[in-house]
Amino acid sequence: MRRADIDAVIGIDATVTGLEKRDYWLSLYRRYGKVESVAQHFLVAVSAGEVVGFIIGEVRDWEFGSPPCGWVFGIDVRPDARLGGTGTQLLNAICANFRRAGIRKVRTILARDNTLVLSFFRSQGMMTGPFIPLEMDIDV
Ligand SMILES: CC(C)(COP(=O)(O)OP(=O)(O)OC[C@H]1O[C@@H](n2cnc3c(N)ncnc32)[C@H](O)[C@@H]1OP(=O)(O)O)[C@@H](O)C(=O)NCCC(=O)NCCS
Repeated sequence: MRRADIDAVIGIDATVTGLEKRDYWLSLYRRYGKVESVAQHFLVAVSAGEVVGFIIGEVRDWEFGSPPCGWVFGIDVRPDARLGGTGTQLLNAICANFRRAGIRKVRTILARDNTLVLSFFRSQGMMTGPFIPLEMDIDV
């Protein structure tokens, strides 16, 4: 991920989610866009000189009572570039970075009704793990 890629990333996310979040992506770039980082990873897939997808994740130590593991918290492939193996390559690339950092477990969280992303992660071998998400409203 380079500074010059940011507009393409913002565009892909806006296409997929219907919402442009420029400040959010600039802030993520500042935090995750450092190529030398062993813990934080923001990678893009480039085809014919164009950014066609990206993945973001990081190593988290001991959070939620878990030994250090890699978290993937964002993945998007441009709709016209899907089903060509790009998502797989992006996940493989971030997992390779996690492995280099000594990590042997990767996790993610996704919306229960996002069957597309669920199908993708299942195809990569990811399965339900031992943690469960909990939430409640706190606007009393
Ligand atoms: C999920 C996503 C990243 C997959 O990217 P991709 O480049 O199409 O993935 P790949 O080509 O590597 O597909 C790998 C496997 O995933 C599964 N898969 C991908 N798209 C699928 C679909 N539309 N239906 C069913 N399975 C699918 C298949 O098993 C596929 O293997 P196959 O082609 O051998 O059948 C892409 O569809 C995407 O960006 N979706 C929107 C993501 C999103 O909502 N992000 C916001 C929350 S993080």
